[in-house]
Amino acid sequence: MKKVSIQVDHRATDRRSIIRVFAAKGYFFSSPLMQISLIIAAVMIVASCSDIKRKPGRVYMPDMAYSRAYETYSVTEEEKQLLEKQGIHYSNVPVAGTIKRGEMFPFLLMKDKDGDTTNYVASKQVKNPLTTMDTVEAERLYLVNCGICHGGKLDGNGPLYKGGDGPFPAKPATLVGDAKYESMPEGQMFYSVTYGKNKMGSYASQLNTHQRWMVISYIKSKQGAAKSATGASAGSAATGTDSTAAKK
Ligand code: HEC
Repeated sequence: MKKVSIQVDHRATDRRSIIRVFAAKGYFFSSPLMQISLIIAAVMIVASCSDIKRKPGRVYMPDMAYSRAYETYSVTEEEKQLLEKQGIHYSNVPVAGTIKRGEMFPFLLMKDKDGDTTNYVASKQVKNPLTTMDTVEAERLYLVNCGICHGGKLDGNGPLYKGGDGPFPAKPATLVGDAKYESMPEGQMFYSVTYGKNKMGSYASQLNTHQRWMVISYIKSKQGAAKSATGASAGSAATGTDSTAAKK
């Protein structure tokens, strides 16, 4: 508290000394030149106070305020005409049916209407376009998306089904061990994974075309491995689940 009162005193003395300096220079304001210029300044200030704006304010860097950038593929009619004069017919969109470089060839079969199986049958002819793939990633995709129903061993008995005790009501396909699925062409599997099959939903929104083919390659590789394992170990103690499953 003491400190504050001392500061106030200081300010008071400062102010007094300033007033004294101004009083000493009082003659400055009384000179006629100064008085005239003060009047002119006052008139200018009053005159400039108006609500009516006749000119817009200055814009600093107009190129930034009013951007000239335009959207990709947005071509004005004038620009189109200029191009046409040069013999270029520009329509803003890729030619129908063209595929982006590096993109996979699309699956051309549409989903069948209810009760129709035309495309489901036709899908048997579609070949898997993958020649090589990342097998570790394919296994990961399978375990994340499919293993919960079809099982980590592809035996159709994942934790959601649990031999009928699980919450999922339908028996998932026994991908390894059931001749029906072992002989199922990859194109048809792709069709079912893309559009769904009865109680199994579509996986087209979770996995892209490439990933769906990867998962199917993975299933086929497991089916092939199981077949050669049971074939080679006929008579000997084969991997328990596979040999029993094959008898079903
Ligand atoms: C929610 C459980 C569930 C999940 C997850 C699931 N499936 Fe299925 N899947 C089923 C059921 C149930 C069937 C049997 C459908 C039928 O034939 O009635 C089936 C059938 C299949 C078939 C045979 C299709 C046919 O045409 O008969 C394939 C192939 C298949 N699933 C692959 C997959 C793949 C690959 C994934 C992962 C991307 C997957 N499933 C994820 C439940 C599931």
